[in-house]
Amino acid sequence: MTIQHPGEAAMEKLLALEMAYVTEAAAIASARLMGRGDRTEADRVATEAMRAAMDEVEMHGTIVIGEGERDEAPMLYIGEKVGAGSEDGNAPEIDIAVDPLEGTNLVATGSANAITVLAASEKGGLVHAPDTYLEKLCVGPLAAGHVDITRPPGENVHRIAEALGRKVQDITVIVLDRPRHEALIAELRATGARIKLISDGDLSAAISCSVQGTGVHAVMGIGGAPEGVITAAALRCLGGEIQARFRYRNDDERARGARMGHGDEARIYKTEDLASGNNLVFAATGVTTGDLLQGVRFFGGGARTHSMVMAYQTKTVRFVDTVHMFDRERPPSVRL
Ligand code: FBP
Repeated sequence: MTIQHPGEAAMEKLLALEMAYVTEAAAIASARLMGRGDRTEADRVATEAMRAAMDEVEMHGTIVIGEGERDEAPMLYIGEKVGAGSEDGNAPEIDIAVDPLEGTNLVATGSANAITVLAASEKGGLVHAPDTYLEKLCVGPLAAGHVDITRPPGENVHRIAEALGRKVQDITVIVLDRPRHEALIAELRATGARIKLISDGDLSAAISCSVQGTGVHAVMGIGGAPEGVITAAALRCLGGEIQARFRYRNDDERARGARMGHGDEARIYKTEDLASGNNLVFAATGVTTGDLLQGVRFFGGGARTHSMVMAYQTKTVRFVDTVHMFDRERPPSVRL
């Protein structure tokens, strides 16, 4: 689909900034709980804040990826309607994929790289994925088109190194530190590539490999499917690539996947398959400081947030540094 009229591009621009406001609100709420050892509560407050902020946005939004099915999540569940709509009925119909807090454990332990994140598109522009797993291979723009998830990981590392004009020893691959990745890690180690094992957060890791200066070149391994769809939206905006296939742990997951049209476990999903929208918007805000974004910094009467906001059609990637004043009576002095 292409843009039908100039209004759609204008809508995308406006929506991008509104969505940054939404992820900022969730980040401020959950950052208050940093290091408190309560991942559930950190996720709950992020979800609540995200939901409340979304309801101020002029849109008819539908959650297509969220906190779970209606019966298991009180808020931001799949199918939930969000947004302020509009009195004249002109508010756009938007599909939204959210991860109100990526890295609940990271916040609970005060560790790096927790973000609040969402992607939005025109109707039908984001795959409806069950809350299961995807095997993922993510790379940045220079290596996009040079990798193949059906080939051994060692071969892909060599292909990435060649595309980047580097030695394999100068490539860093991020892998979730899980027992299921034992063989993958062994194979990567055998190539001589550098490996960064992370406890959580393969979504922010995948974005990092499309941003020069983060020192990350690829993400490999099995992680959350919902995170994979949001990753695809981000990588389309950045020109990176994700290749993925569903990995079900049991028949129940397999049946749920099949009901959503993902019964073929051999099917390779590419970036445009997961996020096919033409008016894609992506927003993420740092909760704890990480490779990509600074975390929330609180000070007397306010807080400062750091976000990444992207719009596919508008071809913009913004890093947004926002000062939030909590107290009009005693406004904090704004620093450069
Ligand atoms: P949270 O849901 O706690 O934020 O965890 C996020 C995450 O680490 C993702 O980044 C990753 O895709 C997924 O969980 C991995 O799942 P698992 O912990 O089951 O291996």
